[in-house]
Amino acid sequence: MKNNKIKIGIAGLGTVGSGVINLLNNNKDEILKRTGCEFLVQCVSARNKDKARSCDINNINFYTDPVDMLENEKIDIFVELIGGNDIAKNVVMRAIEKKFHIVTANKALIALHGTKINQLSLEKNCSVLYEASVAGAVPIIKVIKESLSANKIQWIAGIINGTTNYILTEMLLSGKNFNDVLDEAKELGYAESDPTFDIGGIDAAHKLTILASICFGIPLNYDSVYVEGIEDIDLQDLNNAMELGYTIKHLAIARKSKYGIELRVHPCLVPNSRLLANVNGVKNAVVVNSDAAGPTLYYGAGAGSLATASSVVSDIIDIGRNLSINSKKSTPFLGYMNNMVAEQEILKISNIESRYYLRIKVTNKPGVLADITKIFGKKTISIESILQKEENEKDVNVPIVLVTHKIKEQNLIEALLEIENLEVVKDKIIRIRIEELDS
Ligand code: HSE
Repeated sequence: MKNNKIKIGIAGLGTVGSGVINLLNNNKDEILKRTGCEFLVQCVSARNKDKARSCDINNINFYTDPVDMLENEKIDIFVELIGGNDIAKNVVMRAIEKKFHIVTANKALIALHGTKINQLSLEKNCSVLYEASVAGAVPIIKVIKESLSANKIQWIAGIINGTTNYILTEMLLSGKNFNDVLDEAKELGYAESDPTFDIGGIDAAHKLTILASICFGIPLNYDSVYVEGIEDIDLQDLNNAMELGYTIKHLAIARKSKYGIELRVHPCLVPNSRLLANVNGVKNAVVVNSDAAGPTLYYGAGAGSLATASSVVSDIIDIGRNLSINSKKSTPFLGYMNNMVAEQEILKISNIESRYYLRIKVTNKPGVLADITKIFGKKTISIESILQKEENEKDVNVPIVLVTHKIKEQNLIEALLEIENLEVVKDKIIRIRIEELDS
């Protein structure tokens, strides 16, 4: 039977949940004109009914337990905005058991449990959509699964964590310290409830897990992503990079070559001439390089209430449109036929090749550079340029900045171990990969 009145239940009324209720209200007429459907939020669940909220929930059935909501309500679409993974997974599995279609913004849920969720949804003939799980308002999931479906994708590189991009941008522009800028990001509702997920790169790695699977047709495998955060990035590195013609960005990269697939999340020096170097604040951007379309770029708000709600509601609308014409979902969960999703070799980070920015704190005395370059020479690492940042007196500690030519990471790891053992080298060496993003 066709269905033009779509009943929705929402679990989680934080920044995104409130945004979804507001957006469905604000744009009700526009959505009706576009879809012919009326979307009714019938029930919601959240921990505390009386908490001050930016949305009106007066005429909506309220539950403190999402499972209670699922047991008591008959809905078409269950929208999971609880976040985290264990509780969210149980609730979503229960919702699928009840044959409710699923919309989620939960990247951890999809990256860690997507395979199981998809299996159950196939048995129960339900859709599971997750556009808002990556890059907030930017419609990157649908673009890869649908708009670029005629292409072989070669690589994808993106700024997909708004909090880290906000921190790096603000530190460079205002000279404020890391913690002050992080506090601002929390106040603005960009950061995760545990902000170490943002800063440590875990959030971006969840998102890259999803992107890599839909780009290359590989199973979701969070553990195969190499992850570094921005904890070690100092204002002096941001300024040094600028002097060299680069901006430091926290990038998520998935690249397919004849050797295998690279999956990595870490800070990078990006040439200032690249569009990604100019993506600032909480904005996200993703470049997709594919064989027929060539490079395409997607840019927009990576977090925020209405911005993320825009992606959630677009998924709700997709399902509503299908229900209204009594059609089954046509695009598979990962954009590849389910029986075609297959493992491919994932390269170890030590096997990738890159140029590197290195900051080494050394005692300022004759012969120091010779000692360092001798070790690099032994490992066939060639130096492209050197900056000595402070012209201090002899015998004090100064930072020197080196840029290498393209080398194998394993060689660099071995060289840095030896260099860090030199008596004249103080502190851990700061090492940041350089990504030209040109091929
Ligand atoms: N904490 C995330 C970010 C929110 O900063 O990008 C959107 O996923």
